[in-house]
Amino acid sequence: MNSATFRGLIWNLVVGISQGRLYSIDHESVAVAAARVLTLLGEFPEGLCSIMVVKDDLVFNNTLFREAGIHGDKLVRLLGAKGISRVEFRQGVSAGEIRQLFGDLAAATAPPGRYEHIRLGRVELGVAGPIADAGPVDDPFHAEQLARVQEVYGQVSPFRELPIVGLEEVVSTFLLTLRRGANLMRMLSPVKLYSEHTYTHALNVSILAMALAENLGFKDASVQAIGIAALLHDVGKLLIPKEILHKPGKLSNEEFATIQKHPLYGAAYLARVEGLTPLAVLAALEHHRKFDTSGYPVLRENGRRQHAASQIVAITDFYDALRSHRPYRRSLSTTEVLGIMQKESGTGFNPGLLNRFTALMMQAAAAE
Ligand SMILES: [Fe+2]
Ligand SMILES: [Fe+2]
Repeated sequence: MNSATFRGLIWNLVVGISQGRLYSIDHESVAVAAARVLTLLGEFPEGLCSIMVVKDDLVFNNTLFREAGIHGDKLVRLLGAKGISRVEFRQGVSAGEIRQLFGDLAAATAPPGRYEHIRLGRVELGVAGPIADAGPVDDPFHAEQLARVQEVYGQVSPFRELPIVGLEEVVSTFLLTLRRGANLMRMLSPVKLYSEHTYTHALNVSILAMALAENLGFKDASVQAIGIAALLHDVGKLLIPKEILHKPGKLSNEEFATIQKHPLYGAAYLARVEGLTPLAVLAALEHHRKFDTSGYPVLRENGRRQHAASQIVAITDFYDALRSHRPYRRSLSTTEVLGIMQKESGTGFNPGLLNRFTALMMQAAAAE
C-alpha cells in the first residue's frame, strides 16, 4: 500500500458519495466507484483499512497521509458533515455495502446506517475549547477505546495472529487528545472493576508512555510506536492460566515463576505479528528488567541496557501499577508513588527519564 492507493481510495470515496447525491446507489457511476474502492481495499493487509480524520488530515491504518490534497479536504468535509471521524472497512466488505455507505453519506438528513463489514466512528474530538476544561475525558470516548482494547485482547490466542489495526487507532486517538491539552491525570482510568484491570492498565500505560515520549521530544512515529508498545507490554499475561494470574492468595514459588514468564511469552507472541512495531516486542520483553540490567527475564546478553522504549514503558508501567487500586491495598497518591520510584532512581529506572516523568506528573497533578 502506498500513496497511490491512499489517493485512489480518497478519490473514489469522494466520487462515490458525490455521485450518490445525484443518482440512486444502483446507478453505474456509483457502482464503478464502489468497485474501485473494493479493489483498492484489497491492497491493505488482511483487507483491513481504517481511515481516521485527525484535525484536517487523514490517517490510514496509523499512517498520516499529508498529501491528500483537495480531494482529501473534500472527504474530510463529507465525513465531517455526518459527524464521522473514522471509517473502518473490514475483511469481507462487499461492493453492495460500499454503495450503501455512499448513499447514506450522500443523503441530506438521514444518519448513516449499520453495515456488517464497515464501522463508522463518531469520536467527538472536534469539541471547542481544551478538553482539560471539560472535566474528565467523557465516558463514551473512553469506553470506546476500552472496548477496542478489550476486543483485541480478547482475541489473544497462541494460535492466532493479533489484529492490531484497532490498537493503532486507540493510540492515535489518545495522542490527539493529549495534544489538545487534556490533563494527563484525568485521562487515566480508575480501575472500577478488577476484571477490567488488564485493559485499563494497558490504556493507562500507553497514555503515560506517549506523554513521556512527547515530552522527551520523540518524533510522531516513535511516539505512536511507543504507545502501541505500551498498550501491548503485558500481552503475555493473557497466555498465563487465569487461576494463577487472578489467584487471590499468596502465590507459590512455582506460580510466581510462571507469572514472571509473561515478558517472554508476550515477546514471542508479538514477534510473530506482521506489521507490528519491533518496539512492542522489545518492551514486552524488557519492561520488568531494570536500568542496572537486573530484573527479569534473565537474558543472554544480560549486561545490556533496556531499549529507550522499554525504559519508558518500565517507568510508566510501575507508576500505573502502584497508583491503581488493588483489592489488597489502598491506592497511593501521585507523590507517594513518585517518592517510592525515586528510591530506585539509577537502579530500577533511568534517572534522567524518571526526573522528566516526575516533573510531568507533578505538573499534571498540580493542574488537575
Ligand atoms: Fe508486566
Ligand atoms: Fe504492566
